[in-house]
Amino acid sequence: MFEWNDAYSVKVPLIDEQHKKLFGIGQKVYNLVEERKGYDNYDRVLEAVNELYDYTRYHFVEEEKLLRKYGYEELDNHLQKHDEFLQHLDSLDIEEIDLHQDEAISDLLKFIASWIFKHINNVDFEYSDFLQANLA
Ligand SMILES: [Fe+2]
Repeated sequence: MFEWNDAYSVKVPLIDEQHKKLFGIGQKVYNLVEERKGYDNYDRVLEAVNELYDYTRYHFVEEEKLLRKYGYEELDNHLQKHDEFLQHLDSLDIEEIDLHQDEAISDLLKFIASWIFKHINNVDFEYSDFLQANLA
């Protein structure tokens, strides 16, 4: 599900490495969800989902620092996109998820996956040339 390939590259090694790490954690969550069938490993799944949140937050901060440092014009717009994602995550009700575990976790995973893929291939791609020029 979370398979990295060069089509996701923003041509900035530091960012690509962080995006790869996000894919890696996403895949870990996915594998746990799959493995889960018949087992109760909800705690491990939730722990991995939390890791994905935390790393996403960390990554956003790092990306924003870089864009700010070089005076990226679309920064505000980009910050807003990051914010929307974090707000959605913050609004999730863990107890609700606990009540409908399988369905909720796989929905959450799909949401995170589609968001990450979409964000990288749309909004992140827009700063690719800008950052490449500034980092050269
Ligand atoms: Fe971004």
